[in-house]
Amino acid sequence: MTEKYSLATTLVHAGRNKRVTQGSVNPVLQRASSLVFDNLAHKKEATINRAKQALFYGRRGTLTHFALQDLMCEMEGGAGCYLYPCGTAAITNAILAFVQTGDHILMTGAAYEPTQDFCNKILSKMGISTTFYDPLIGKDIKALIQPNTKILFLESPSSLTMEVQDVPAMVKAAREANPDIVIMLDNTWAGGILFKALEHGVDISIQAATKYLVGCSDVMIGTAVSNARCWDQLRENSYFMGQMVDADTAYTTARGIRSLAVRFKQHTESSIKVAKWLAERPEVKAVYHPALSSCPGHEFFKRDFTGSAGLFSFELHEKLSHEKLAAFMDHFKLFSMAYSWGGFESLILYNQPEEIKKIRPNIDRTLTGTLIRVHIGFEDADELIADLEAGFERLKS
Ligand SMILES: Cc1ncc(COP(=O)(O)O)c(C=O)c1O
Repeated sequence: MTEKYSLATTLVHAGRNKRVTQGSVNPVLQRASSLVFDNLAHKKEATINRAKQALFYGRRGTLTHFALQDLMCEMEGGAGCYLYPCGTAAITNAILAFVQTGDHILMTGAAYEPTQDFCNKILSKMGISTTFYDPLIGKDIKALIQPNTKILFLESPSSLTMEVQDVPAMVKAAREANPDIVIMLDNTWAGGILFKALEHGVDISIQAATKYLVGCSDVMIGTAVSNARCWDQLRENSYFMGQMVDADTAYTTARGIRSLAVRFKQHTESSIKVAKWLAERPEVKAVYHPALSSCPGHEFFKRDFTGSAGLFSFELHEKLSHEKLAAFMDHFKLFSMAYSWGGFESLILYNQPEEIKKIRPNIDRTLTGTLIRVHIGFEDADELIADLEAGFERLKS
């Protein structure tokens, strides 16, 4: 689209030009490894333009991939979007594109656990060091920047403990210390739209598109939307690493994004309703929902976000014994126990305080009770509340 429209309109119309739709509403599903050239001149032209959406070879993408990439760029305001087989691949390949032996990166100490594992178990083997910082460090991040610090990696809200980061302050401070630093954000919770990462000075907005973009818990894909400064390096390095997704996955993801803004409206309404109800329960010590003042960094959420996702946590007063946990977790009628989130359905998981401590070694945030994480889907919010209430009743018997 050449004209500037609202986000809701953009999500419906972007990435649907005639070249990719060929007369239908959605982009065509073009499955290909080989893409046939008409003649030598055509092959030459495709080779020159292979990084600019020419049909060249399947690993560089087909019309279906280009449609999703265009949609992502319009949605997040980027110069380019690379597609990966899952969110973790997007995170690891984006980092790898900007580091070499001897470099240092800054990683939020409340990052998704596999992101931390990548730093501790893979980057360390390559002679790349990581400092894990407190997610609420704000402008003091500046003091941690070394001459060899190449990347500042953010994740906001944090996994499990949900701290919301002061991204603008961190971006400003980091750039004052090193204007060339590459700033990346795991923007999965916001689905790339509730928080506009690139507008806030982030270079690369990464998503486990597996979650909200797909929205149905049945496809895995990762996305990294980059500004112009970092795009060539991100794209070429990811291509050298053999990163790509199949056309069916790209097609399904684009289809999911069409309803993203509408879905977030319902996630916002229902998750806040459930969170407020939980905050009144005697068993609950604190609710960590970014829209509630009990969530660390709530003021940044209020300032920077335009809505809420369905995922949040709450801490119980009590650390539940194995028996009590089983009584609570095993009998929900609507909440399913499963990893991942972002689909139409409600999910529930738990972490004990010592497990949180283990994956938050550098953060001064001690939990004493069991942490329950819920994803609020599209069931009726009152029926979800009733399901949780029955869980609390089971704790009493
Ligand atoms: C915040 C966050 N980032 C990244 C990922 C990884 O996504 P994927 O499972 O698609 O690799 C997850 C998965 O749960 C996540 O919660």
